[in-house]
Amino acid sequence: MSHHDERTFVMVKPDGVQRGLIGDIVSRFEQRGLKLVGAKFMQIDEDLAHEHYGEHEGKPFFEGLVEFITSGPVFAMVWEGADATAQVRSMMGETDPAESAPGTIRGDFGLDLGHNVIHGSDHEDEGANEREIALFFDDDELVDWDLDTAEWVY
Ligand code: PPS
Repeated sequence: MSHHDERTFVMVKPDGVQRGLIGDIVSRFEQRGLKLVGAKFMQIDEDLAHEHYGEHEGKPFFEGLVEFITSGPVFAMVWEGADATAQVRSMMGETDPAESAPGTIRGDFGLDLGHNVIHGSDHEDEGANEREIALFFDDDELVDWDLDTAEWVY
């Protein structure tokens, strides 16, 4: 990882998995030029949901959010690149799909505030990316590799 690169946590939520959007979402990040360094298809349990969304405990939507995120499998990923967290956030759109521009993931696929297809680390919350990566992935599940597309153009 070169010094200006960073890693960020991204997850296709249960609605995105059910609607068959994993491939499209992975494809968007690949095409952007970000590098995939970890991925896991998994079921989030109550404990992990509470840890992951702990900062929202007590808010009116908290219980519904936990119920939703544990309702079916998610596709968790770690993407690496220059300013990866901010890049992913801009590709995701706004929290509310209704306010997300067409061309963004939520603007193209989102239905409503409770079902917004994707989660990405908050770039305004310093260290959120590293915290979330550590919560979902062991060190040995992350792969260091060189992304060198030029080598594969014949
Ligand atoms: S806050 O209060 O500004 O920090 O909230 P925000 O960052 O916008 O959202 C936090 C996560 O909660 C989800 N959310 C909701 N889920 C269900 N119902 C309602 N009303 C609702 N409002 C916010 C929102 O999608 C965020 O989840 P992630 O996974 O981080 O996108």
